[in-house]
Amino acid sequence: MSHAKIDAISAREILDSRGHPTISVTLSLKDGRIAGAEVPSGASIGRREAVELRDGDSARFDGNGVLRAVTAVATEISDRLAGMDVTDQQAIDQALIALDGTPNKIRLGANAIIGVSMAVARAAALVRGLPLYQSLGSGIRLPMPCMNVLNGGKHADSSLDFQEFMIVPMGAPTFAEAMRYGAETYAAIRAILHERGLATSVGDEGGFAPRLEDNEAACALIVEATERAGFRPGRDIAIALDPAASSFAQDGNYVLERSGGGRLDSAQLLDLYAGWIDRWPIVSIEDGFSEDDWDGFVAQTSAQGQRIQIVGDDLLVTDPATIAKAIERKACTAALIKLNQIGTVSETLAAIDTAQKAGWGTMISHRSGETIDSFIADLAVGTSAGQIKSGAPCRGERLAKYNRLMAIEAELGKRAVFENPFIR
Ligand code: PGA
Ligand code: ZN
Repeated sequence: MSHAKIDAISAREILDSRGHPTISVTLSLKDGRIAGAEVPSGASIGRREAVELRDGDSARFDGNGVLRAVTAVATEISDRLAGMDVTDQQAIDQALIALDGTPNKIRLGANAIIGVSMAVARAAALVRGLPLYQSLGSGIRLPMPCMNVLNGGKHADSSLDFQEFMIVPMGAPTFAEAMRYGAETYAAIRAILHERGLATSVGDEGGFAPRLEDNEAACALIVEATERAGFRPGRDIAIALDPAASSFAQDGNYVLERSGGGRLDSAQLLDLYAGWIDRWPIVSIEDGFSEDDWDGFVAQTSAQGQRIQIVGDDLLVTDPATIAKAIERKACTAALIKLNQIGTVSETLAAIDTAQKAGWGTMISHRSGETIDSFIADLAVGTSAGQIKSGAPCRGERLAKYNRLMAIEAELGKRAVFENPFIR
């Protein structure tokens, strides 16, 4: 298929939702059609993630410019991929990995490589004449949206040590209704904060970032807002947490500094979660322990994995081999999936496949630094991932994904599937 051949690839430096430089990639096919992608960027980054290439000269953007990565796309990468069949994602991703030649994609930059890989997937969908989700897989299931309504940790200057408090509209019959449940509960949180004279400004992922008495007060606030919005806690709306514990781990312990929660060892932190699970309608905890504390994850999966979902993010970094190790060790029951953590679309698909074949859950995720690219919405449906997190129902770069999912649900019509993936 000559019309499927890559002609050239270019890139530009653009800004993400934090105002930091990132990459926009444009791929042109020999027949003149073009496809593009924009690359997200994290703040609480797992140590074993694929590494972004940043310029490092402090004259521009305090060293965070991406002009070297832009050049890598337009020269080495474009030269290598020109003439390749864009529908062969696997071969193209392998060529990118080989061309880079490092284990963590640092030479060409994981930002350059994932941008190209995503643009290739989009171009392949064009060539096939399919929407992206149908080109990526055969799924027709809309994911459960996990909306991060209270932001802490590295995402906000709130009083919360834990990074994310998400609401999960488990009782909703459709994706669009799930968004309504979420948006109405989000509005109720805003109203309650306003009444109490607390800040209603938002953090990086669109959730509120108030000064609450302690971390657990966030759960109480969510339950109160759920009821005020007319929903039943634990039936209609549940809670998912991402403490992102690597960010408050210190010398093998966990220090809850912002909230004045003291220093806990791994066993005490597990106890803290046990108490919370008893008191609040929690269905999922992600990165409850640090990326170095495999024993903490294993202990949690054994003690709490029957009641709630145990998700690995920094622990697994969307790496199929690490996910396989975690399956073997029974360290989690679900994988968080971020394209730019591993750096190519085909490795991401392999990570999802590895998790799903073990009966694990999969939660597709945005990054805290985002663009309006909605690739992950299509990825979630095409792979029947079952879950997505894209922040609060607030801020355009977060809504871009949720709104794309509502469009896909409408397009699928009666064929669309929407199911609660969590234990009630
Ligand atoms: P990040 O956070 O995008 O800042 O890494 C997201 C997460 O920890 O899930
Ligand atoms: Zn996380």
